[in-house]
Amino acid sequence: MNQHTKPEPMPIKAVRFEEAEDRGSNRSTAATIGEVIAARYSRRGILKGALGVAAITATVSPLALAAADKARAAAATSFNFEEIEAGVDENDHVAPGYTKKVLLRWGDPIFADAPAFDVQNQSAAAQERQFGYNNDFVGILPHPDAREDANRALLVVNHEYTNEEIMFPGLGVQDAEEVNFAGMTKELVDIELAAHGGSVVEIRREGGEWSPVLDSRYNRRITATTPMRVSGPVAGHDLLKTSADPDGTTVLGTINNCAGGVTPWGTWLMAEENFNGYFWSDGEVTDENLARYGIPGKWYAWGKFYDRFNVDREANEPNRFGWVVEVDPYDPTSTPVKRTALGRMKHEGAETIVNKDGRVVSFMGDDERFDYVYRFVTAGTFNPDDRAANMNLLDEGTLSVARFNEDGTVTWIPLVFGEGELTEANGFTSQADVLTFARRAGDAVGATPMDRPEDVEPNATNGRVYVMLTNNTRRKAGDENAANPRPDNAFGHIVEITSPDGDFAADTMTWEILVQCGDPRVAEVGATFSSATTASGWFGMPDNCAIDADGRLWVTTDGNSFKATGRTDGVWAMETDGEARGTGKLFYRVPVGAEMCGPVFTRDNEQLFVAVQHPGEDAAGWPGFTGEVSFDSMPTRWPDFQDGMPARPSVVVISKDGGGKIAS
Ligand code: FEO
Ligand code: CA
Ligand code: CA
Repeated sequence: MNQHTKPEPMPIKAVRFEEAEDRGSNRSTAATIGEVIAARYSRRGILKGALGVAAITATVSPLALAAADKARAAAATSFNFEEIEAGVDENDHVAPGYTKKVLLRWGDPIFADAPAFDVQNQSAAAQERQFGYNNDFVGILPHPDAREDANRALLVVNHEYTNEEIMFPGLGVQDAEEVNFAGMTKELVDIELAAHGGSVVEIRREGGEWSPVLDSRYNRRITATTPMRVSGPVAGHDLLKTSADPDGTTVLGTINNCAGGVTPWGTWLMAEENFNGYFWSDGEVTDENLARYGIPGKWYAWGKFYDRFNVDREANEPNRFGWVVEVDPYDPTSTPVKRTALGRMKHEGAETIVNKDGRVVSFMGDDERFDYVYRFVTAGTFNPDDRAANMNLLDEGTLSVARFNEDGTVTWIPLVFGEGELTEANGFTSQADVLTFARRAGDAVGATPMDRPEDVEPNATNGRVYVMLTNNTRRKAGDENAANPRPDNAFGHIVEITSPDGDFAADTMTWEILVQCGDPRVAEVGATFSSATTASGWFGMPDNCAIDADGRLWVTTDGNSFKATGRTDGVWAMETDGEARGTGKLFYRVPVGAEMCGPVFTRDNEQLFVAVQHPGEDAAGWPGFTGEVSFDSMPTRWPDFQDGMPARPSVVVISKDGGGKIAS
């Protein structure tokens, strides 16, 4: 999710009730360090990769630049492709020798009998049979009927949120205070509900090219109204009971599904992230449990038509979101399950790994400034020979939160009611309470406040875990900690955790910073990319990531723009070992205004699937576009480039020309 549209809420500890007001200032006017520096040192120079004289004097000497060039020439990264040039334009771009192909766009039918997309006459009924909006997480699961066949698979995709100003002709932005959703009708809201959630689509590869199989019995849409079961320690608790669900066990829908994961037993984990944005209140909310999660957000008109999205009328409904949802794509009639044992937060993702003792470990980021990194370890062990035996593994286990110590160790602190600070004396009444308000539990045990934790990805190849930290411009001088060392951290960083002997369930691990992001040529930024990194190879705002078949790290970003970094978001290869450690290398970049989500490689590493999210959402400062973005006025109409068709979020498949493994 792009912070320009759905901004980071306030650090709650400092300012608990100002989130709604925060929205306006965060939309586009707040200057980042990048903007300040770009203004100070001539953006033109920075964009061209040649700093002006003033900048060179102020940052690095010509001698140092020459040395860097030499190092660049000498250091060989293991990623074998020709880097593309960073920049901003209407299209997406991939490294020479590779082909990109759009696989699925918003509105594409995903059933043989689904209606063709008609952007002028969209309906909720049609949208429920078509690919949803703002694709984010992308997972590829072995085909249930042909698990060894590398040419057949089930694709699972999250649809995180909707952009009403881009989706609907003539509507414009609706969530500005002065508009207050005046143009939103129930019909439009119902289309939004249907455009959320996720899609399961069977895909097939022929001649090296993937395409959707529309008549597959596995294809499925999950939306913000799909009935879901609640399981784990919070199921049936008073905190989850509503007038529509007095048992507290059945929830309608999942929302703001950002990243996620696939499990070793072939299920799909959908992480519910900025769920706060969907809730309304007619009055002032003073409940600390709501405020700690930024509720009400009022980013959508849903509360105008549905009481359950108004906390004055249905106080517990927000407690039913912010979970990890497990879906079994192998059974299209299965009921998705909200797994409460994994805690309630703004879940970025939920990547899992089988530990060497057979337990399953999930690493999770809570995407908010000053929030935490979590880990869940199952009580039971994975059984590779019995899928059914694994289906409820995520109901029992231990949720922990990370404390990054100054000595380079990280301690995983268990969040267990009755232990340590998690007692009635500190306001906790049960394990259900601890899990539902996991953020408060993290506060109580002294977890380390991070710079917006996004994807947290374990790497089975080297026993390490990579933590993407997008940015945090609210961290002031004096608020730094060892793992978040930069105040006004506009460009984010990546923390690398090393597990002892590959034990991902260990209580103590070690950590170090892999890279501090931003332009390494501008000393004030404090970026630490290797000297081999080119003018295109550095990036800001790491968000999602993937490990390829060779155990190498690839990073995608959210928030690079003409204003912030002079470049769009994209996919960067990131060296983690050897002399070239800390080298970024640009492989693919998105059209103006888009965010890069969902990187995942096929198991043979011959394709990379990515999700181009919210193309054209924002083009601030880009000379190619002026004015406000709407359906009728867009900086890009990628990928169709047709009048009357807005830019469409799409999943893109990248292949090497002539076949073969990517970047090998
Ligand atoms: Fe939905 Fe944290 O990005
Ligand atoms: Ca994001
Ligand atoms: Ca994300």
